[in-house]
Amino acid sequence: FGNLSSSEASSVTTTEAPASTPTPIPTPLPTPIPTPVPEYVDPIYDEEIWYDGFVDPRSVTAQIVTNPDDITVVVNKYYALPLDYVPSDLVDAPNSMNQQLRSEACDAWIAMNDACLEATGQGLFLVSGYRDANIQEYLFHRSANLRGTPFACQKNAWPGRSEHQLGLALDITPAGTTEILDSFGETTTGQWVNEHCFEYGFIRRYQLDYAYETGYGQEAWHYRYVGVELATYLYENDLSLEAYYGIEQRLPWDE
Ligand code: DAL
Ligand code: ZN
Repeated sequence: FGNLSSSEASSVTTTEAPASTPTPIPTPLPTPIPTPVPEYVDPIYDEEIWYDGFVDPRSVTAQIVTNPDDITVVVNKYYALPLDYVPSDLVDAPNSMNQQLRSEACDAWIAMNDACLEATGQGLFLVSGYRDANIQEYLFHRSANLRGTPFACQKNAWPGRSEHQLGLALDITPAGTTEILDSFGETTTGQWVNEHCFEYGFIRRYQLDYAYETGYGQEAWHYRYVGVELATYLYENDLSLEAYYGIEQRLPWDE
């Protein structure tokens, strides 16, 4: 009663204790929110194998993401999707050959393509959108067989570790072409896309300056849908998705 004046204090009455003590009414305890126990994918190799700053995804432990439907989720060599994960809202993407995207990313793709056509007189083509883990495994091995394991580790995700499996990644090329181009960023449409993609919720995911953070070399054609708010923030602050979350890969020479 520290704050009460003496007259207020004296008006506080006390009641006499009842003859028998009543059983206290149990206070319901708040239901604890269960903390998910992280699940991991064990590496195939006993120790980490690095090729010039690019780790072999089969040589690291990856944590399985618990929020695969979140448009801002990170999937990379260290954060994996369950191999059987399929987004529930895939739709057929226009301006592609039978590619699919998550519905929200597809709406953004259509809007960006229309705006690009309007601004530059040329539209875009979606070479690759959603890919399942089986296709990803085929692509990794094909790449390793044709160009060697170091190349594959720099350019191709291991199954479960590709954001193409999210249905939120797009490999884009100018309309009239069906192949991805290393020079996409120098084309008229590529320049326009790089200046405006954040307005539609896309980021340039694998930039040269981000290579040691993302674990992949430059991919001029690969864009990732994260929504307008985060895309704008990353664009304005020149941040990779990993840097934004503070989960840049640890390089052997950082140890
Ligand atoms: N090329 C990117 C890293 C992928 O395979 O998902
Ligand atoms: Zn891609």
